[in-house]
Amino acid sequence: MRFVLCITGASGVIYGYRTLEVLSKEHEVHLIVSESGNTVLKEEMGITSEDLKRSFPKVAVHNPKDMTSPLASGSRLRSFDSVLVIPCSTSTLGNIANGINQNLIHRVCEVALKERVRLILLIREMPYSKVHIENMLKVTEAGAIVVPASPGFYHRPKKMEDLIDFVVGKVLDLAGVPHSLFRRWRE
Ligand SMILES: Cc1cc2nc3c(=O)[nH]c(=O)nc-3n(C[C@H](O)[C@H](O)[C@H](O)COP(=O)(O)O)c2cc1C
Repeated sequence: MRFVLCITGASGVIYGYRTLEVLSKEHEVHLIVSESGNTVLKEEMGITSEDLKRSFPKVAVHNPKDMTSPLASGSRLRSFDSVLVIPCSTSTLGNIANGINQNLIHRVCEVALKERVRLILLIREMPYSKVHIENMLKVTEAGAIVVPASPGFYHRPKKMEDLIDFVVGKVLDLAGVPHSLFRRWRE
């Protein structure tokens, strides 16, 4: 399967990192990290997209400023299974909801909506304002899937990795990717 994975500047970049780790083992992954995504990667994990390039040599890393990227074109993006924004900041959400393209991530999401490529946004903010909720409704009505970065606890997590894998596993379920990141209910 083929995926575009976008990491934006919301807290929880570890969700994006874990998704990259799992998907890149068996699938083709194209990665875009926003400028603020890099800031948060540095804050929360002590790494940048350059480190990701080195750790995941098979992953194609795209410049978020490059609007000439093939990913910005509908005819090219149609061959992908899903576009995943993990985590998705409320700023990126606002841009997608209102059709404003200030970087390649916004454009790829816009193209995913118009070409009916599955678009999954893992929103991370607390609490939500009316603006955030309205924007989530707008993108949902336009065809995106909004996922909150909130793990369940019925699988009895023991460590942080269990909570991360629960959330990433839910996203992979929605993207149609088989996985065993968490134990399912009554399994
Ligand atoms: C350490 C840190 C944590 C942040 N956490 C969040 C967050 O959880 N949710 C959010 O929407 N924005 C958060 N922000 C703010 C975004 O980074 C900011 O709105 C930025 O413009 C988003 O740009 P992007 O969507 O292009 O990545 C955070 C910023 C920093 C520096």
